Amino acid sequence: MSNLKRDCYCGDLRASDVGKEISVCGWVQRRRDLGHLIFVDLRDRSGILQLAFDDDTDRDVFESALTLRGEYVIYAQGKLRERSSKNPDIPTGDVELEVRELKIFAKSETPPFEIVENSDVNDALRLKYRYLDLRRPDMQNNIALRHKALRVVRQYFDENGFYEIETPILTKSTPEGARDYLVPSRVHQGKFYALPQSPQQYKQLLMLAGFDRYMQIARCFRDEDLRADRQPEFTQIDLEMSFVDVEDIIEINEGFLKRLFFEVIGLEVQTPMQRLTWREAMDRYGSDKPDLRFELELCDISDIVANCEFRVFSDTISAGGSVRMIYIPNGGDLPRKQIDALGEFVKTYGAKGLAWTKYGEDGENTSSFSRFLSDEENEAISQRAGAEPGGLLCIIADAKDDTVFAALGALRCECARQLGLIKEDEYRFLWITEFPLFEYDEDENRYVARHHPFTSAMDEDMDLIENDKGACRAKAYDIVLNGTELGGGSIRINTPEMQMRMFNALGFTNEQAQEQFGHLLEAFKYGAPPHGGLAYGLDRLVMHLAGLSSIRDVIAFPKVQNASELMTSTPDVVSDSQLSELGIELTVPQ
Ligand code: AMO
Ligand code: AMP
Repeated sequence: MSNLKRDCYCGDLRASDVGKEISVCGWVQRRRDLGHLIFVDLRDRSGILQLAFDDDTDRDVFESALTLRGEYVIYAQGKLRERSSKNPDIPTGDVELEVRELKIFAKSETPPFEIVENSDVNDALRLKYRYLDLRRPDMQNNIALRHKALRVVRQYFDENGFYEIETPILTKSTPEGARDYLVPSRVHQGKFYALPQSPQQYKQLLMLAGFDRYMQIARCFRDEDLRADRQPEFTQIDLEMSFVDVEDIIEINEGFLKRLFFEVIGLEVQTPMQRLTWREAMDRYGSDKPDLRFELELCDISDIVANCEFRVFSDTISAGGSVRMIYIPNGGDLPRKQIDALGEFVKTYGAKGLAWTKYGEDGENTSSFSRFLSDEENEAISQRAGAEPGGLLCIIADAKDDTVFAALGALRCECARQLGLIKEDEYRFLWITEFPLFEYDEDENRYVARHHPFTSAMDEDMDLIENDKGACRAKAYDIVLNGTELGGGSIRINTPEMQMRMFNALGFTNEQAQEQFGHLLEAFKYGAPPHGGLAYGLDRLVMHLAGLSSIRDVIAFPKVQNASELMTSTPDVVSDSQLSELGIELTVPQ
């Protein structure tokens, strides 16, 4: 037998290769016996090739082929020939390998699920046997796509003068942001490292160190509740630049996204990209990450109903809230039961109810609230909505604007989904700018930094840092794609005075600020350039490139909802000796 090395991949062979002597390696997809003929589909990462064994095949090889079962790992050598019955469904469908030599490298038990594309196996089983799940062609493509994307990332930022620099994984825990993952120190018993939620402070210190442009494919850790687009450990494409303003950062990143989407999926992204201020985005879409693939904009009707008889509306206005609506042109098709369900849906976002009017095709309207309003008020609302027969009007009133926006923003997306209004083949990129610098934390009863405490206020809003936190805008921006926040960043504070002012505004005393962030305040004394940056969620970017709706499918070994990894049973208990070495005593039984 020859040296058992392959000289090509299965999926690459075409009619033009007929007559060549070739060797391939891979996994058996399936075997079909037709008496004196055996066909075996062989799979490697590139695709599938048909192997053929027949009367001319050596008897030992033929016998050996009869023992092949799904997922056996084999080597096959022979001559490529044209297939008598072609299969137009696969790229190698015109050819087959007339096998002369066969070697079984490893046998396989029957796998717990079939290794095929789009299988509807349940997620827990897929993740327990992730290595088998990853053999499926769609998962192979997702992971290959991620690799391609990473290659473009490194190329683009290298070409634009960025250094790739690694920052520590064992770092200092700082307040603000999500919950930290902690790592106990053996040497310093009773002390802990924290895994980085992002390389934020280090990348700023790298600007201070004079590296000018930094990038890193950075693993980040956040102990927060998981969702389809959130993992406890995830990857950022992290950037920082010196001597720049918001425009410079947007420009370099538009260039990056254009290049990335073109090279990975051939998509021509138009630049400059659309922009909205945070205020506009909230007013028009009720969201700071609006999906622009459909319309259904929000509209304020507080002025119309301020003095109406319907107390649900008028009391809301006198309490300082607002009454807003969305109008859905074809929404009148929704049956009453579904509209009631939408009423329940908005309650999950904190709304107290949903007022609606269905404009009948026959001119007969049905409404949950119109009887409480005057004809003039009803007419004014219909006019503002541009209502026509067949339409549906949905109104939410709440004393808190945040609730109106959250509920109507979600309702907008839900209606678009139910009515099939989303243009699925569009990629709508959008910058959101001028985010609020602060955000009120109801639980803690104080203002916290909306992005992080290193973000600079807008020049014209400096006085508001102390005087009107709620109205103070930041030099902070997000890049949004089809309703997902892909990334976000800001221009940073770069003087110790301003940084201390910000910590004070967030309620830190000078001493507390020194204790937590002394290293940064000290560093800023030695000449920090004006700087700013941004970080993308790589997993979310690749999810969109792959046209998927969960980041789990673009991560080789993801975690599930409760932050465990099913294949290796992580997290797990550790031995008593490991614990005592760390000076740790458990208050819960192992
Ligand atoms: P931010 O916290 O907005 O900014 O994070 C940047 C991007 O990272 C992605 N992301 C996540 N992806 C998956 N799972 C998660 N749990 C998760 N959390 C965040 C998102 C998000 O837009 N240091 C700043 C950036 C900067 O200011 O330069 C930061 O981390 O796509
Ligand atoms: P009711 O008088 O309770 O029957 O309410 C009349 C309509 O107003 C119903 O459709 C309610 O769902 C709706 N409604 C109640 N509270 C609100 C609210 N905060 N915003 C919008 N509609 C509401």
